[in-house]
Amino acid sequence: MANLSTSYLGLKLKNPIVVSSCELTNSLENIQKMEAAGAGAVVLKSIFEEQIVFESDKFIDSSDASLSPMKKGLQDILDNRSYDYVEAMEYMTNFAKEHTLKEYLDFIKLLKSNVKIPIIASINCVSAYDWSFFAKRIQEAGADALELNIFILPSDITKTSANYDEMYKKIIQDVKRFVTIPVALKLSYYSSSLVHRFVELSNSGIAGIVLFNKPYNPDIDIHKIEISTGKILSSESDYLRSLRWTAILSGRVGCDLASSTGVHSYETVVKMLLAGSNAVQVASLLYEKGIGEITHLVDGLNKWMDEHNFNTIDEFRGKLSQKNIENPAVLERVQFMKSYAGIN
Ligand SMILES: Cc1cc2nc3c(=O)[nH]c(=O)nc-3n(C[C@H](O)[C@H](O)[C@H](O)COP(=O)(O)O)c2cc1C
Repeated sequence: MANLSTSYLGLKLKNPIVVSSCELTNSLENIQKMEAAGAGAVVLKSIFEEQIVFESDKFIDSSDASLSPMKKGLQDILDNRSYDYVEAMEYMTNFAKEHTLKEYLDFIKLLKSNVKIPIIASINCVSAYDWSFFAKRIQEAGADALELNIFILPSDITKTSANYDEMYKKIIQDVKRFVTIPVALKLSYYSSSLVHRFVELSNSGIAGIVLFNKPYNPDIDIHKIEISTGKILSSESDYLRSLRWTAILSGRVGCDLASSTGVHSYETVVKMLLAGSNAVQVASLLYEKGIGEITHLVDGLNKWMDEHNFNTIDEFRGKLSQKNIENPAVLERVQFMKSYAGIN
């Protein structure tokens, strides 16, 4: 039996399989099943920054004068803000009415006394408004790390890439003021200079980057001739984008990498590790085939390591990253060459 342990965000995981933030990580029962199936860690379902703003009154002590500008800032957001995307709006009208931030904190406490694997809390955010004080509450509740799912769709015609870079940096600075636990960023691949942005962010005090968050994509229903919901779960071939960028970024960034999207088999787990991941996140596979699939991923990785005589993950992690291969250009090829077409 090989040693599958890995270090991710400074946490020691018994193996690199991490359950992604999703509805499945919203119950103690599921998380206990994930632990029993062998998961190395779990990322909790995200709360939205809007919810923190919505409930800020309950959390900001009005006797603390130093926090009053923050309180006013939050009120301004509530009064003036147009919600940035449909998902957040839906969340506010449905989920937030039934769930409270206190429940989120209580849930973290409950998990910490009932499971042993690291618990990574998650916040969905799109702005650098002053919601970040809540990160401290998450830390106090006992979360081992915090993942910030920052999905800013670069669709504003007035904003340059530099403007967006500033927004990312501001969010990190704000959150880092409040916490000492490791912070990971789950980022989008929508970037005009992805390597530059990710390397810069990786050196700004964060512990890890998750490649990538999966956007909600609208579709079109040609029968009703209206906008419809695109496919929510990933497909097996969706891992290729994360694989390429993991391999390109590995060894260049100043923090850990977790690869996410399209991980449906142990073979893909192995590929991500060879590309340079510290951890591999899964969600859709568990929706489609059940939480027990985690065991297949762990067993498959173990078997592959035995077959290839690897005792530890560090012996092969990043072996096929761009920095370590003889012909780095293969990872940057984007054109289909005629000889590869082979499809009639
Ligand atoms: C039903 C569902 C809910 C999700 N909710 C969140 C969320 O709250 N926060 C987040 O960062 N990602 C969320 N995700 C995205 C997953 O964490 C993951 O990034 C995405 O599904 C791609 O990974 P996969 O191919 O393994 O599914 C959700 C995914 C699904 C399917």
